[in-house]
Amino acid sequence: MNTSKQVNVMIGLLFVAFLTFGAYIANENNRAEAAREAQDELKAHRGATLFVNNCRTCHGLEGKGTEEGGVAPPLNRPSFRIIGKGDPELPPTPEGEANGLKNFLFNTIACGRTNTAMPTWSEKQGGPLSDTQINYLVLMITEGRWDLVTEIGEEHDSATTPPTTKDDILVKDPAALSLTAKNCGQFNPLSAKEFYERDPFKAPGAATPADGAPKAGASGPSVQGVPVADFFQKTCATCHGAKRQGIVGPALTPERLTNTDDFYFNTIKNGRPGTAMPAWGAVGLKDDDIKALVQFIKTVQP
Ligand code: HEC
Ligand code: HEC
Repeated sequence: MNTSKQVNVMIGLLFVAFLTFGAYIANENNRAEAAREAQDELKAHRGATLFVNNCRTCHGLEGKGTEEGGVAPPLNRPSFRIIGKGDPELPPTPEGEANGLKNFLFNTIACGRTNTAMPTWSEKQGGPLSDTQINYLVLMITEGRWDLVTEIGEEHDSATTPPTTKDDILVKDPAALSLTAKNCGQFNPLSAKEFYERDPFKAPGAATPADGAPKAGASGPSVQGVPVADFFQKTCATCHGAKRQGIVGPALTPERLTNTDDFYFNTIKNGRPGTAMPAWGAVGLKDDDIKALVQFIKTVQP
């Protein structure tokens, strides 16, 4: 071999080594990704098991809450979802937004909600769950793994003789629940509004009429700056129904509401202790907002 051939061979060998190494790196990334996915699946599984054991009684067998006869709000909301980087179709949820949502869910689960039946779960606050366990629950909720909850729940319920039924599991009398007296949390259904309104499945840049420009009819009475009907849908419909037909709370229609304005004002402001009806004055609804709601439910047909 002359020198120039030797050099060529050297270059060739280097090139092969380079390719092999590159392929190794690429494969390493795939392997890391696969390992991460397996880890997440395991964590979601643990979250679902924790949900079956601790949360179904109030939030429903599939996380549908009041929609399936539970006394607590649904947790299977699309607005509680985070889109991961691996999703082929949807843009990933921006990190800041994802962290805000996780913090909201973690805080609510760890701290419970004062004056409601939502217990304090963190062992730091005297509850039964560790931070790691609460994070499993948050992951299961943000990934929307209600399929695992259903699956683990069915396995769990069929193991007893006779099999456990929905009636055995769901709390029927909210008056029997004790209310959380004090907590470390900063959220309530009003301060959490942004987490009910976000739409993680919306394509980026696809502005809806709700963004910015006021909608038609927005000039009517408003509550917290949004038209009263919209406010009702976001805040009250989980319990009273989207058509105000009643779910865990009674129907709120002009025909049914024959009592005085003051009576309903007091109910909304102070809640009904011993029931699922929250005290909206305590979470920050102003008297004028409550009056607008009373007029709305008593005079506007659904
Ligand atoms: C004894 C009944 C009860 C149990 C058990 C319970 N919750 Fe709740 N939970 C509630 C109620 C009631 C609310 C609504 C509180 C409010 O009006 O602010 C709530 C609210 C929540 C919220 C906030 C939802 C929202 O719309 O703002 C989350 C998240 C939540 N619960 C998670 C859990 C998890 C996870 C578990 C199990 C570890 C659990 N809950 C167990 C009664 C319960
Ligand atoms: C977590 C479930 C829940 C939410 C959310 C909720 N309610 Fe209620 N509400 C109830 C329940 C349960 C009752 C019945 C209480 C009882 O048995 O006395 C009730 C009762 C009422 C009543 C009295 C009806 C009557 O015939 O006496 C009014 C008015 C009312 N709610 C308005 C509202 C408004 C307005 C909102 C939103 C700001 C709201 N509720 C949100 C559960 C809820």
